[in-house]
Amino acid sequence: MRLDKFLADSALGSRSEIKNTIKKGGVTVNSVTVKDAGFRVDEKDAVTYMGQAVAYTPFIYLMMNKPAGVISATEDKTKKTVLSLIDKKYAHYNLFPVGRLDIDTVGLLILSNDGEMAHKALSPKFHVEKTYYVETEKEITEDDKAAFTEGVYIAGGTKTLPAKLSVLSEKSANLSITEGKFHQVKLMFESRGNKVTYLKRIKFGNLKLDDALKEGEYRPLKPDESIF
Ligand code: URA
Repeated sequence: MRLDKFLADSALGSRSEIKNTIKKGGVTVNSVTVKDAGFRVDEKDAVTYMGQAVAYTPFIYLMMNKPAGVISATEDKTKKTVLSLIDKKYAHYNLFPVGRLDIDTVGLLILSNDGEMAHKALSPKFHVEKTYYVETEKEITEDDKAAFTEGVYIAGGTKTLPAKLSVLSEKSANLSITEGKFHQVKLMFESRGNKVTYLKRIKFGNLKLDDALKEGEYRPLKPDESIF
């Protein structure tokens, strides 16, 4: 592939910033300075960018603390999307949100270009656990806990799989589910005659929302972080 693509894929900057650095002699390939952005390289080449070795990364994984008011889509005619919050240096990756959170739901959302990972994370076959912090209009009871463990009927008459409810206070709880039906958490509480007033995803598989991320902020996953 072209040298400028190789470097852009490694999230070192925008294509034009990268081209400039190449022109100025800031890039070496196998210890030789290369000033041609179209120079062909592959993963086996040793590339440095402003003195730093570059590890080629075709896939990228961002953890976002999704704010309310944006939709989990790549584009929309009228509403602001989560993609509009991402710096343009990631534009060439063709990122997409891994699963959906409602417009008013906040919290952990992964953005990636790794389709295989997304399929595994979302496939009903793999039962990846997601945990939500929930606040409700009315009291959450021990009966709700028993009902969610047993499964409740939501829209369309489908029964939910066993879910774990940890009651935190009169009107707040953590709920862990292993499915991702449309509006599932809200519909589960509705089936109990209650209403969700605040919903935040705090865990997705092995990933915990980074407390340091304010709503709207995001960061790349660390090498040892993964949904699985
Ligand atoms: N369940 C919901 O009801 N909404 C979400 O955004 C996620 C899970």
